[in-house]
Amino acid sequence: MEIKKVGIIGCGLMGSGIAQVCAQAGIQTVVHEIDKDALEKGMSRIDKGLGRLEKKEKITTEEKSSIQGRITGTTDLLKLKDSDLIIEAAIEDIAIKRSIFKTLDEECKPETIFATNTSSLSVIDIAARTSRTDRFCGLHFFNPVPVMALVEVVRTLTTSDETFNNAFNFAKQIGKEPIACKDNSGFVVNLLLVPFMLDAIRAVENGIASIVDIDKGMQLGCGHPMGPLTLLDFVGLDTTYYIANIMFDEYRETRYAPPPLLKRLVLAGHLGKKSGRGFYDYTGDEPVPAL
Ligand code: 3HC
Repeated sequence: MEIKKVGIIGCGLMGSGIAQVCAQAGIQTVVHEIDKDALEKGMSRIDKGLGRLEKKEKITTEEKSSIQGRITGTTDLLKLKDSDLIIEAAIEDIAIKRSIFKTLDEECKPETIFATNTSSLSVIDIAARTSRTDRFCGLHFFNPVPVMALVEVVRTLTTSDETFNNAFNFAKQIGKEPIACKDNSGFVVNLLLVPFMLDAIRAVENGIASIVDIDKGMQLGCGHPMGPLTLLDFVGLDTTYYIANIMFDEYRETRYAPPPLLKRLVLAGHLGKKSGRGFYDYTGDEPVPAL
């Protein structure tokens, strides 16, 4: 099944990136946000993402505008109803995700495939509220979506082979590298990445080394593009705290338990790059350690 039209729920950091890569692959893309303000912000994020490529001469001005011509922004969920595939990238709130898919399930054509970009919730928990559990899977992208090659394609206990294969091929269609994952909390990447990032916070708590040296250690010692504390600020401390809590709840293993320092930073509103401060302070020209 060739995917010709994609509906995307949410035009935040992930949704806008997913919309951009779908449109770049020549697919008609409709992206939904809850209100005009959020939609405008999301569309300008896409504009900025494509502008980055234009500036580097990876696309021409004409290509940029034809890519943008394939993206329609809307605040009306029903505009997505004739999509071949819906990818939900709304906030990590199970009640909101269930309610979105309930509405879409009633309105979309029967063959529309539903996918969630959840990073830690169980896919079947969202799928089970619809009448198409066989046509429901996870498609988990990575930030920044236009740059990161991977997509985790998640098969639940009820996902049909046909749906899984269509989703897997779709990931290839948009130029990504898919891997097959079971519907366990964290799939493959977060299962390994989250305890690693939490251990870096524990290293800070225990005074093992400075923030800068912990990051430098993993960058220069293991070739990571970003050290774990920079990566935490990049992903968002609130997001990581939220994911860790879900994973701890699922596995009851202490390696997923959010360290007290992470909780304190979130309570203080120090959420990382997006709030201007996390493990580093981003208000100057260069990030400087904030702890
Ligand atoms: N959006 C789009 N493109 C971006 C970007 C952004 N936010 N940031 C950087 N880029 C592009 C640049 O334009 C550049 O493109 P080019 O190679 O075509 O010229 C390329 O990425 C490299 O960028 P820079 O040279 O400016 O900077 P870096 O070399 O430091 O790379 C980075 C930036 C790609 C973000 C790199 O540091 C990196 O890979 N970091 C790790 C990111 C990561 O681990 N992401 C996964 C997070 S976990 C997740 O998303 C799961 C979720 O569930 C929590």
